[in-house]
Amino acid sequence: MNLKPIPPERLPELLRRMPKAELHIHIEGSLEPELIFALAQRNGVALPYASVQDLRRAYAFTNLQSFLDIYYAGASVLLKEQDFFDMAWAYLQRAAADHVVHAEIFFDPQTHTARGVAMETVIKGLHRACAQAHTELGVSASLILCFLRHLSEQEAFETLEQALPYRDQFIGVGLDSSEVGHPPEKFARVFARCRELGFHLVAHAGEEGPPAYIWTALDLLKVERIDHGVQSIKDAALMQRLARERIPLTVCPLSNLKLCVFPTLAAHNIGQLLDAGLVATVNSDDPAYFGGYMNDNFVQTFAATGMAAAQAYQLAKNSFEASFIDAAAKRRYVDRLDAAFAEFE
Ligand code: ADE
Ligand code: ZN
Repeated sequence: MNLKPIPPERLPELLRRMPKAELHIHIEGSLEPELIFALAQRNGVALPYASVQDLRRAYAFTNLQSFLDIYYAGASVLLKEQDFFDMAWAYLQRAAADHVVHAEIFFDPQTHTARGVAMETVIKGLHRACAQAHTELGVSASLILCFLRHLSEQEAFETLEQALPYRDQFIGVGLDSSEVGHPPEKFARVFARCRELGFHLVAHAGEEGPPAYIWTALDLLKVERIDHGVQSIKDAALMQRLARERIPLTVCPLSNLKLCVFPTLAAHNIGQLLDAGLVATVNSDDPAYFGGYMNDNFVQTFAATGMAAAQAYQLAKNSFEASFIDAAAKRRYVDRLDAAFAEFE
């Protein structure tokens, strides 16, 4: 693709308008404080916060765990299938407005089944929103079931069993929650079983944890993508491998800023990852908690790092390459991306 020069002041508009895929979004992290309060009232759930403003004030995080404690508390208002639908539908409308044309959405069933919510309730509500996004918004969306890594291997196996009756409603499995102290190898046997079952495999690694966790996610879990992966910069051999094997990283700049992985957005390493030839992508992670959806991530990160149109094109193209759609669909999306750049006046 031959890129014409884009004046820097027009870059935000291009970033907003270009078609893109989102590959790292925890649907429970899209639950806005207003919806948390509305669902709490609808379901008669008591919250330890007096108001939306009071809850928002608690969103001052120092690391991943300080966020997860509040994130799991927020999810406690989700009880009925309609709640899961409403949450996912709100996200998908927001994503469509940001020109997200394809989304692969994480969900954390153990956060809900531990409170007595049936697996069927969770998956049916989320899946119905994905189907409606396709027909009403023209957005393709699929689900990835994440195992909580602070829980046991046995609990992950039980979760997989509970989800298998709905196996046609999610495309893959992932691994999230508290990273440090819960290395990928803890889940090697569950991931091996998921691989036999034909699921796509991803895992959070190298968000706060060391490059060693990225190596073991690749070698022992056999994942196809690494979620975050920003700590790979500390290991030259790992960087070479990620580039050579074209293993995508689903990077989340505003998340990394809010969880103090980088001191400033200007210090974020996404430009270096691209320069090293890695298939890096931009994603929102938990947009309701980290101050931004996809376009906020793109616009703020580009403003802070000085990246330009060439990187915008590469990141959007990478998002389609890294997705789990078939080759023909990838080509169609990249054609749309090329048209958006060509038509940009
Ligand atoms: N669950 C939701 N967001 C997460 C993140 N950034 N890292 C690990 N687990 C998560
Ligand atoms: Zn995440």
